[in-house]
Amino acid sequence: MSAARQHLPGDPSPDETVERMIRVDHAGEYSAARIYAGQLAVLGRSDTAPVLREMQAQEQQHLDRFADLIVCRRIRPTAMLPLWHVAGFVLGAATAALGEKAAMACTVAVEETIDAHYASQIAALDDSEGELRDSLVKFRDEELQHRDIGLRHGAEQAPGYRLLSAVIKAGCRVAIRISERV
Ligand SMILES: [Fe+2]
Ligand SMILES: [Fe+2]
Repeated sequence: MSAARQHLPGDPSPDETVERMIRVDHAGEYSAARIYAGQLAVLGRSDTAPVLREMQAQEQQHLDRFADLIVCRRIRPTAMLPLWHVAGFVLGAATAALGEKAAMACTVAVEETIDAHYASQIAALDDSEGELRDSLVKFRDEELQHRDIGLRHGAEQAPGYRLLSAVIKAGCRVAIRISERV
C-alpha cells in the first residue's frame, strides 16, 4: 500500500498515514530506550552491560530522529507516552531480573516485531517521503543487528523462551496499534 494511493472513504489521508507512522515509531523508540534503561538498572554491572549500553545508544539516536520529526512536523505524540515510560522500564527490568538470557529474549522478541513493522512502513512510503524511508531502512537494519546480538547472547536458551517471546510480541503489537491511534 502506497501512502499516496487512492484515498477511500474512512481511510486516513496520506498525511495522516505518515503522521501515524511517525507517532507510532516515536512511541516505539521511546519504549525501546526505556526497556534498555530497565535492563541496565538490573544488569548495569554485569558482563552484558556494555552491549546493552551500545544498543541503548542506538535506540536513543532512533528516538532523537523521531522526536525531531514530531517537532518539525507538529505531530501530536501518542497520549500513551507516560504508560510506555513505565511499561518499557518494567518490561526491561523484569526480563533482566529473570537473567541475561531472558533480557536478550526480550530484545529478540521486540526486534522481530519491529522488523516487520518497519518493513511494512518502508513498503508503504513512496519517493515523496524518501528521507523518512531512508531513516526507516537504516533503523530497521540496526534493529536486526540488535536481534542478532540477542541471539548470539543466548536469547533462545532463556527459560520459557517460547512463551516469553510470544507474550512480548503480542504486547508489542497491541502497543503499536494503540500508539498509531491514540
Ligand atoms: Fe530502535
Ligand atoms: Fe532496537
